[in-house]
Amino acid sequence: MKINNNQINIQDKEISLKTLNQQDVVGRWWQWFNDKEVTKYMNKGHYRNTPEKQLDFFNKVKNSNQDCVLGIFYNKNNIHIGTTAIHNIRNESGIKKGNFGIIIGEKFFWGKGYGTQAWKMMTNFAFNTLDINVIETKVFSSNESSLKVAKKVGFEQKKLIENDITKDGKKIDRIVLELKKNV
Ligand SMILES: CC(C)(COP(=O)(O)OP(=O)(O)OC[C@H]1O[C@@H](n2cnc3c(N)ncnc32)[C@H](O)[C@@H]1OP(=O)(O)O)[C@@H](O)C(=O)NCCC(=O)NCCS
Repeated sequence: MKINNNQINIQDKEISLKTLNQQDVVGRWWQWFNDKEVTKYMNKGHYRNTPEKQLDFFNKVKNSNQDCVLGIFYNKNNIHIGTTAIHNIRNESGIKKGNFGIIIGEKFFWGKGYGTQAWKMMTNFAFNTLDINVIETKVFSSNESSLKVAKKVGFEQKKLIENDITKDGKKIDRIVLELKKNV
């Protein structure tokens, strides 16, 4: 199945998750990775991003069977406020797994519940449509907001990986969380 070639449109009251197009990529999306505040808790922002680099990434995931990337749109004016994804969709001993990620790049929209809502919508989609059994995510141990949201959505903490990555010369601990499909 070519996941990202499908016209996906998951509607909720205030936000929707939708298949992205080229205008979205060169519009707002690429700029979020140049904002130190937005990327503070992400393994991103090491290099300056450009529309061209973002388009390369988009074209790669668009044709991939291991990635599903959807835009988060604010319904009232159809603004692209973020992106959520399941990456590295794989089969591990008969169990279909994927890695969850999210960025709300438009900071005006932080703290209004949309991250939680998008997180729930994407995990439901992964379980019910992509047929994934287990969703994993890795969160910086200092990222209290994401840890709170992940736990609210039902993710369980599995392990702490000390010094998992280096960012701006500092070692970062990350927490692995997991959510299993209810069967
Ligand atoms: C993480 C992110 C998706 C959260 O989205 P959001 O729309 O701001 O989240 P919500 O409003 O749904 O919920 C945030 C929760 O964290 C809480 N929170 C925010 N900052 C906090 C802090 N410093 N300490 C503790 N809790 C905090 C909020 O109070 C809220 O909890 P509540 O609903 O119980 O009040 C968004 O901030 C984001 O995209 N950040 C940049 C990219 C990023 O870090 N991605 C995640 C990588 S794992």
